[in-house]
Amino acid sequence: MQLMSLMISLFVFGLHMLPSLISGLQVVLGHTAMISCNRSCSTVEWMRNRISVVRFVEGKFTVAPEFKSRIKFSLENLKKGNVSLVITDTVYNDRSWYTCSCDGHEGCDQYLDVLLPVSLEVAVGDQAKLPCYADTNKLTPESNASIRWEKNDALVVKLKHGEMEFGAGFEDRASVSKAKYGNGDLSLTINSVKIPDAGLYRCFHLSEKDTHPEVIDLIIKDCPSSNVIIALAVIIGILVLPLLHFCHGKLLPACRRLKAPPEHIAVPGADGK
Ligand SMILES: *[C@@H]1O[C@H](CO)[C@@H](O)[C@H](O)[C@H]1NC(C)=O
Ligand SMILES: *[C@@H]1O[C@H](CO)[C@@H](O)[C@H](O)[C@H]1NC(C)=O
Ligand SMILES: *[C@@H]1O[C@H](CO)[C@@H](O)[C@H](O)[C@H]1NC(C)=O
Repeated sequence: MQLMSLMISLFVFGLHMLPSLISGLQVVLGHTAMISCNRSCSTVEWMRNRISVVRFVEGKFTVAPEFKSRIKFSLENLKKGNVSLVITDTVYNDRSWYTCSCDGHEGCDQYLDVLLPVSLEVAVGDQAKLPCYADTNKLTPESNASIRWEKNDALVVKLKHGEMEFGAGFEDRASVSKAKYGNGDLSLTINSVKIPDAGLYRCFHLSEKDTHPEVIDLIIKDCPSSNVIIALAVIIGILVLPLLHFCHGKLLPACRRLKAPPEHIAVPGADGK
């Protein structure tokens, strides 16, 4: 009986913990995080893993050295009952549990996760392939595939119930593959990328945190791609080759230096033997 109640409480505890683990606050490395908290207090202290981040006691602010000049905390907002903690220029080690102590009472616990972007460079006009992988069920019918891509928190493309929905500016330019979904491949393809396509892209599957990589920083290079350079090289080649041919034929003195010494050229079957 006791074991049973222990199991039930573990189950309930597990259910209680699950949302907080999944719905933690996420910020992209280097960006600004806000840990929201609405409380009326005269003294406030934010702690990260029980260590002080910022304190407001008796009209005085104290910020921990590792957060120096990275904390935005205003007295004006505090008076309005907004004691939200704003951390700018986030670093990887800012990942942690944060707790607000308001006149000695703790609350507003939040786990802050720092997402690491992967950079992808694509030239203007080229096709961008943004990778994303997740554990999908191999046997999921294509009509049940669920993929969502966002750029800077706005929709790029969504696949649900077998239908694709596009965000503004991505109509008929962005696509995901229903067929590859079963392999765990949720990658996004964007055709003929433009300068404004640059930004942070995120891929979502069923829950927030089950996709890899977590964030892609798409960088658009405003210069011709290697394909264009190859095309130019081919055009130059086409223009220059007849000239070389002409030189070879006429054996113009100025062109002779372009010819390889004949003794090094082995032509099979042409030695007259
Ligand atoms: C605090 O209040 C603001 C606006 O009044 C609201 O948007 C925000 O969600 C609140 N935060 C919490 C943690 O309740
Ligand atoms: C709460 O305070 C933070 C930091 O001072 C500020 O960035 C945010 O906009 C405020 N929120 C509201 C709803 O006033
Ligand atoms: C597909 O989705 C429908 C409705 O969302 C659900 O009833 C069905 O069980 C799903 N099938 C599979 C194999 O996941």
